[in-house]
Amino acid sequence: MTFHRRTVLATGLAAAFILGAPAAFAAKPLVIGFSQVGAESEWRTANTVSIKDAAKKEGVTLKFADAQQKQENQVKAIRSFIAQRVDVIAFSPVVESGWDTVLLEAKRARIPVILTDRAVKVSDPSLYVSFLGSDFVEEGRRAGNWLVERQKKTPDAVLNIVELQGTVGSAPALDRKKGFEEAIAGNAKLKVIRSQTGDFTRAKGKEVMEAFLKAEGKKINVLYAHNDDMAIGAIQAIEEAGLKPGKDIIIISIDGVKGAFEAMIAGKLNVTVECNPLLGPQLMQIAKDVVAGKAVPKRVVTQESVFPAEVAAKEFPNRKY
Ligand code: AHR
Repeated sequence: MTFHRRTVLATGLAAAFILGAPAAFAAKPLVIGFSQVGAESEWRTANTVSIKDAAKKEGVTLKFADAQQKQENQVKAIRSFIAQRVDVIAFSPVVESGWDTVLLEAKRARIPVILTDRAVKVSDPSLYVSFLGSDFVEEGRRAGNWLVERQKKTPDAVLNIVELQGTVGSAPALDRKKGFEEAIAGNAKLKVIRSQTGDFTRAKGKEVMEAFLKAEGKKINVLYAHNDDMAIGAIQAIEEAGLKPGKDIIIISIDGVKGAFEAMIAGKLNVTVECNPLLGPQLMQIAKDVVAGKAVPKRVVTQESVFPAEVAAKEFPNRKY
């Protein structure tokens, strides 16, 4: 696809030639419209900072819109970016489905779309040029694999698991659930007894954990939280119920934010699977390449690892978010 910025540049250069000021047009900054999910977690805050900082560093004009966890706000923001004729639209979709129409509008306006962090389910993959972000299924698998290994310490015990899911319909919630289930599938001693959404927030994580504790009490052996914020909220609920998080209840979460490292150092969280939010520099590079007409990869997978509590104190000083 040839995107409209080239036309703008060509028109600009022609006009500049007539006016005798070509340098002014050559320096026209790249304009990216970015629609963010919201500010629901420590991870999200770090992601926003990374994108804003990278744009500043690269001289990119960033039009930033916070969707407050609502798909309708993201659709509005994307339509507004199209109307403003930005050079590139980037967004982290709140949920996976329901994007075909608005992305077709962007395509017809010849504005390239880059997905950051989360995937979309669309009938036509040419509706976006690139998807930069983590492999959420793999993160779920890593969380499950850690538990399978941990279970080997008590091979005869049945471990009852409660799961705090992320936002309903979001790629990380669907994929982390899938990957975890896949990893524990062969183990009859690992049983998910409750699973509910905590919407990726601390407040909801606490609230839902309170409900789990009320319903299941001491039957709960393991908490699997789809992000650190929900785990941190749940830790509070567990303590208020007079139990010891990390000991009476094994806690596994995802993201690897500083708050999780602090919880691990305090002995309240057992492991966090990393999900790297620092996507800003790569996003700027892909955006620049795409408007320059270079080929960009359809999928860029973020490199990540797993941090069990045993390494938390040593790793903490290296954490960037
Ligand atoms: O899409 C990434 C997820 O969204 C992070 O794990 C979570 O913390 C965030 O809200």
